[in-house]
Amino acid sequence: MPRFEPVLSKNFRTEGIRSLDVYRKNGGYRAAEKALKTMSPEQVIETVTAANLRGRGGAGFPAGMKWSFLPKDRKITNLCVNADESEPGTFNNRVLMENDPHQMLEGALIAGYATRTTTAYIYMRVEFHEQFHILQKALDEAYAAGYFGNNILGTGFSMNCYVHRGAGAYVCGEETGLIESLEGKRGWPRIKPPFPAVEGVFRRPTVVNNVETLACCVHIIERGADWFKSIGTPGSAGPKLYTISGPVKRPGWYEAPLGLSCRDLIFGDDFAQGMLDGKGVKGCIPGGLSVGVLTEKELDCKLDFDEVRKFGLLGLGTAGAIVIPADADIRQVLMNCARFYAHESCGQCTQCREGTGWMYKIAARIALGAGRIEDLDLLSELSQNMGMMPGLSICGLPDGAVYPIRTIVQKFRGEFEERIRAQEPGRAAEVLQRLNRSAYSLPIFGQSRLAGAV
Ligand SMILES: Cc1cc2nc3c(=O)[nH]c(=O)nc-3n(C[C@H](O)[C@H](O)[C@H](O)COP(=O)(O)O)c2cc1C
Ligand code: SF4
Repeated sequence: MPRFEPVLSKNFRTEGIRSLDVYRKNGGYRAAEKALKTMSPEQVIETVTAANLRGRGGAGFPAGMKWSFLPKDRKITNLCVNADESEPGTFNNRVLMENDPHQMLEGALIAGYATRTTTAYIYMRVEFHEQFHILQKALDEAYAAGYFGNNILGTGFSMNCYVHRGAGAYVCGEETGLIESLEGKRGWPRIKPPFPAVEGVFRRPTVVNNVETLACCVHIIERGADWFKSIGTPGSAGPKLYTISGPVKRPGWYEAPLGLSCRDLIFGDDFAQGMLDGKGVKGCIPGGLSVGVLTEKELDCKLDFDEVRKFGLLGLGTAGAIVIPADADIRQVLMNCARFYAHESCGQCTQCREGTGWMYKIAARIALGAGRIEDLDLLSELSQNMGMMPGLSICGLPDGAVYPIRTIVQKFRGEFEERIRAQEPGRAAEVLQRLNRSAYSLPIFGQSRLAGAV
């Protein structure tokens, strides 16, 4: 692969880059000045649209198009920077904020100007303690230098910006769950329409964008739409901060153009450099848990917005890869996935609340050695009957729940069947006891409900 000049991470190793002074010495806030002083908001939107910047938060929605949905006659606009980052396996937002906080703030300023935002809220997951202080300090400095507040850089444009800390729920990363939480309520996603562009925070038009999406805006304004489109693959433009975890030699973050293959990410010399202790790879969940799994044979899949779908995945997601070693028990992998969604479902929609719970219970039964072959069909059937895609739920959490379950069951069916056939007969009674003792139970499940699982 040709040598790639880092974009988003280019200043990560620059001494003192968290300070405004050093950030500015390295060209910081030049793009924001260009946008605010020489471009109209419409021109900024046109440029971002021409660059085909697709949202990095998971869904890949084009940013410029999202901004153009705002009602033309609005008086107030809010911008929510989605820094909730709760997708398992994902930490690129954290890395961006802790290594170069002004880059994201500059992106928020550019997006805010383009959308005529009056107030920007950075919604940050509560577990980001250190990053919160880093970001708040950077924001204070940026305010003092006139990049936020009234009459920014003497242009007449005014925008306030606040960092708001979440309360630690996966569903608060969903844009309307985030909005509810920001308003001080329980983070229950809202029924759409109305979409946030029409009625969002405090019922005002609102744009929600991911941290990395906004960081990309800085470079699009500085270097132009054609330059941005020259990176990546057709339909998936720009750089990407990939993350990788699991038993690889060098877990962490790596920047590359969109379209890096999963195999290169795991084995490439510039990336994770292969598996620890010569382990084999069973598979990889390449985009945060919700996208589903690739088997070892499928690792040449390019991680961009389109190719992943050919492999039965939900999408690119966050490009946060979780590598599953060859010696992992696939039953445990399945159970861990299912437990996460059962725990995080907010409970408003019946099929999500009950379906994620049942998927977990069935997966736990299989993992504990009391599975039945028909459980695999049951899981596949359940996975067809949940989510926004079949029009059954308020938000996309159950869609994200079914992809890992469905793809793990489908792609490793032979291994599951082998394990189930090798089970000791009469295991069910013992499993029931273990479940009731229950390192495996979720706090939300009473014993009587678990008992129904076996
Ligand atoms: C259950 C769930 C959790 C989500 N969590 C996040 C998150 O942590 N961060 C994020 O940016 N987007 C998350 N999203 C996607 C957001 O709803 C939204 O699409 C995104 O923030 C839009 O930003 P973008 O267009 O810049 O990608 C989540 C979606 C769902 C359904
Ligand atoms: S789909 Fe699930 S997480 Fe989303 S609102 Fe409904 S119950 Fe809550």
